[in-house]
Amino acid sequence: MAGKAADKFNQVRKRILADIKPSKEELQETVYLVNMLSSRLKKSVPKDVEIRVTGSISRGTNLKGNADIDIFLLFSTNLKKDMIIKKGLSYAKKALRKGDSFEIKYAEHPYMRLYLNDLGIKADIVPAFKIDNIEKMGTAVDRTPLHTDFINSKFNERMRDDTRVLKYLLKMNGIYGAEIKISGFSGYLCELLIYYAGSLERLCETLPKAKLPIVLGAKRGEEYEASKRFGSSFVVIDPVDNNRNVAAGVSMESLSRAILLLRYLHENPGEDIFLGIRYSSDDVSRKLDETISRLGLNTYLLKVRSSRKTDDIIWPQARKSADILKTEAEKYGFRIYIDLVFMFRDSPYIFFASPKEEINTRVQRGPSVFMPKAVEDFMKHHKDAKGFTINGEFICALVQNRYPTLAAFMYDVSSGKILGKRKDIDFSRCEFFFCELPEDIKETLYIELSRKLSA
Ligand code: UTP
Ligand code: MN
Repeated sequence: MAGKAADKFNQVRKRILADIKPSKEELQETVYLVNMLSSRLKKSVPKDVEIRVTGSISRGTNLKGNADIDIFLLFSTNLKKDMIIKKGLSYAKKALRKGDSFEIKYAEHPYMRLYLNDLGIKADIVPAFKIDNIEKMGTAVDRTPLHTDFINSKFNERMRDDTRVLKYLLKMNGIYGAEIKISGFSGYLCELLIYYAGSLERLCETLPKAKLPIVLGAKRGEEYEASKRFGSSFVVIDPVDNNRNVAAGVSMESLSRAILLLRYLHENPGEDIFLGIRYSSDDVSRKLDETISRLGLNTYLLKVRSSRKTDDIIWPQARKSADILKTEAEKYGFRIYIDLVFMFRDSPYIFFASPKEEINTRVQRGPSVFMPKAVEDFMKHHKDAKGFTINGEFICALVQNRYPTLAAFMYDVSSGKILGKRKDIDFSRCEFFFCELPEDIKETLYIELSRKLSA
């Protein structure tokens, strides 16, 4: 970028930063809170266990008003993993005071989230091994303090701010976060994108021009090999551990969305893109109906029963079920253009939108005519077919479709005939809505749909 465009870009960057960068006062306040928490932890944590602040706060890449504190308890590698988790969680618990609460969370391994109400903060306390070399890694999170050291050794203030702007852009557009529901960009991945590109401006210029596979951090000429080794077409190598792809959790959809955003920002520097997906909460019901009628698609909504577990357990299961249903529906010739999975008041919902069509007769492709035995078997097997035809070298049977409409298929899904009970989700006795939507979920659905339809 040069001249006027670069000026415009920098102007936008500056205006966004004014909104999202924590003020000096806020940063001081955070330091104070971190110190308070550390001194509470020090009372229960033995001297040989190090209390280390990590995460975006320790790297100066945190967004305003986001006082989420990441503290690691670093144990000697002589100990066993089970032991450090047990001890770590019990030390963390001792930092609680009257009125505080906690939650045990599970990522790569258990850690503890503290809600310290008197201090008004949320803090994750993560037990890990203290390592100076990646070979000694005992748990996946042992890398985290090394990430902090790495970023702090490479970043200047401009890169920290660039990371903040990038995170905010992705966040507002629904693709910030490594959790499976988002399958987007983690904080560390944003830091590495800025590191490898050198600046946000360069990132906006280069990433949208790249071709798949996109590989950052490999030796020149070894990009294809790295893409194959990691089995992914988006690879960002962790500088502290060459065997890790930091972008492993990014879905192709999230990558594509990021490419479009960065390209847009490069070509039309402006603040509009930072507003993200826009919707107002009034008159949602009418707006949703209008959107659907404009699309001219049929809608199918399943409200599924699930055991009362947390969203981060149920959502991935519901997502998986939706994928299976989609594949199954495609076997009957139906095409699902939009599929959404979301939680509302503890229930998983699966939403499909599909063209209005009836498929009474379906074509079933058989073997090549050059395989006589297979052709004979195929014809025998389909002796009740309505007819046969040849497509290219393949014999095809025209058969009665078991489900003439997607609605008929979905109706069977809703009585548990297709999927039944899977883990924590029960498809028998779920509620099915065809081309009508219950009022209470319209707002959630409208937000999910707007996000899906944004490009
Ligand atoms: P966070 O998810 O809190 O990210 O993980 P963050 O970098 O602090 O970003 P924000 O500002 O809170 O959104 C803290 C650190 O733990 C490591 C990374 O080093 C990250 O910076 N981590 C986290 C991983 O290595 N893998 C993960 O899946 C999650
Ligand atoms: Mn964090």
